[in-house]
Amino acid sequence: MSSRIHPGSPSSCPVIVVGFGLAGLSASCELVVRGVPVHILERQQKPGGNSIKASSGINGVPTRFQAQGSDTVSAFYNDTVDSAGVNLMKMETETRKKLISSLTESSSEAINWLVDEQGIDLTRVAQLGGHSHARTHRGAGLTPPGASIVLKLLKQLQASPLVTLETDTTVTKILKTNAVVVGVEVSHAGETRKIEGPVIFTAGGFAGDSSGLLARYRPDLAGLPSTNEALPGSVDLLVNVSAQLLDMEQVQVHPTGFVDPKEPAKPTKFLAAEALRGEGGILLRHGKRFINELATRKEISDEIMALPAEDLQPTKQWDILLVLDEAAYQATKTHVDFYMWKGLMRKTSIFELENSDVALETIKKYGAVVQGKGVSDPLGRSTFGNWNLENPTFESAVYVGTVTPVVHYTMGGVIFSPKAEVLDSGASPIKGLWAAGETTSGIHGENRLGGSSLLECVVFGRIAGQNAATFMGAHDGA
Ligand SMILES: Cc1cc2nc3c(=O)[nH]c(=O)nc-3n(C[C@H](O)[C@H](O)[C@H](O)COP(=O)(O)OP(=O)(O)OC[C@H]3O[C@@H](n4cnc5c(N)ncnc54)[C@H](O)[C@@H]3O)c2cc1C
Ligand SMILES: *[C@@H]1O[C@H](CO)[C@@H](O)[C@H](O)[C@H]1NC(C)=O
Ligand SMILES: *[C@@H]1O[C@H](CO)[C@@H](O)[C@H](O)[C@H]1NC(C)=O
Repeated sequence: MSSRIHPGSPSSCPVIVVGFGLAGLSASCELVVRGVPVHILERQQKPGGNSIKASSGINGVPTRFQAQGSDTVSAFYNDTVDSAGVNLMKMETETRKKLISSLTESSSEAINWLVDEQGIDLTRVAQLGGHSHARTHRGAGLTPPGASIVLKLLKQLQASPLVTLETDTTVTKILKTNAVVVGVEVSHAGETRKIEGPVIFTAGGFAGDSSGLLARYRPDLAGLPSTNEALPGSVDLLVNVSAQLLDMEQVQVHPTGFVDPKEPAKPTKFLAAEALRGEGGILLRHGKRFINELATRKEISDEIMALPAEDLQPTKQWDILLVLDEAAYQATKTHVDFYMWKGLMRKTSIFELENSDVALETIKKYGAVVQGKGVSDPLGRSTFGNWNLENPTFESAVYVGTVTPVVHYTMGGVIFSPKAEVLDSGASPIKGLWAAGETTSGIHGENRLGGSSLLECVVFGRIAGQNAATFMGAHDGA
């Protein structure tokens, strides 16, 4: 990568980056470090997209922060393929395998880049569902990983004279002349104008687009709330310049988004961490448990969505109670105290719960199962975290919040190459156009592993930035 653009070079045209989440940030860093000017366009008031909300971490194998000598790229590759599902791995097999290889093989380098070159703390490692090893990295402090990564990269980019950042500016069209992408049309404060330059498209997914792309590709999920901002997906802009879509109906639903009692119909929900259930928490519907709370995200979501929904037009949601006893609360205190502060959970007594007679009976039975009093769980749960409520009464303290399934992540998007080129119907790269992040497809298949989304943003965002810089250099010399 030696195509530095020298000061005084005739090329003053920047590379355009559409969307300023982690994929756009990563691409921009690579351009700036090569001396290429970058013009970033972000429709929201603030940069960060959904990336800034990421709370679990980013995957990497092998890294010096993992337990030494156990995990391998091969194990990470296999976990990703298993999660993608045999049915989808049978289609577009070679494309998928190449992308998954590139993602997993570059994961260690991605972590090193963030830690050693960008100065981000990623020293803590956890094992998330679907992973055979602990490989999801986050920092030791209280700032969640999405925010700490995004804010650090942002600060460095904003200090560069090569960076132009326009927020509150929506890209409405991609301009193509003689089969080459040459710029974009943008709309800002009711005015439309054109900006020239090659384009890196990092506009995220469509999980928050419940009446648009979600309704088009997954009508059964239309109206569901989301952990993402309630904004339209932008992938049609790429389709219009002959990009191809894959896996658009593959959508990840998370079973537990908090319903805020102050704004129950709000389309964007806060995620209730999986740890609440892992540490012992149970889910009640009208006072009764109805599923093994540690089943997969998909199994729990499907079970809830098979029940009749509340009708809060236009939001479609369910009324499930998440309940922790005192010991489960103590084990998740930092999380729960934060949720209570936000008004999403509260401390109460069993007496105050809906159908309290039934709820008390349910909690008694669960307690007997936890204590191993000769009864196994009829719903098949076999680990109970810290739950230890013995002889519950109406007065027993519980910590509760209402939760509902939420659309969390969209696996589908545009077909792209391991070089982050957007491909046309003949599988040829569209010149002057790259993409990275949630807007792309082919890596996750039926199910994205936790921590692999931030990773794809860094890996393919950087590749997009590097290749766009080379492209500029090539034009420069021509
Ligand atoms: C609550 C939550 C927790 C998560 N936790 C994790 C985690 O721990 N680990 C993990 O790996 N993943 C996690 N994810 C998923 C991950 O955060 C996202 O998938 C990923 O960050 C997407 O990054 P991106 O850069 O592709 O898109 P985004 O970060 O969403 O950025 C896209 C940007 O493009 C802008 N944009 C879109 N269209 C246009 C347009 N036409 N013109 C101008 N701008 C436009 C958007 O406004 C947005 O700012 C989580 C997601 C959520 C919501
Ligand atoms: C991954 O799968 C391949 C093919 O099935 C197998 O040969 C390899 O040993 C697996 N790797 C690990 C670490 O399990
Ligand atoms: C796609 O292109 C057509 C024809 O130029 C245009 O009318 C339409 O608005 C475009 N759609 C998007 C989403 O860019």
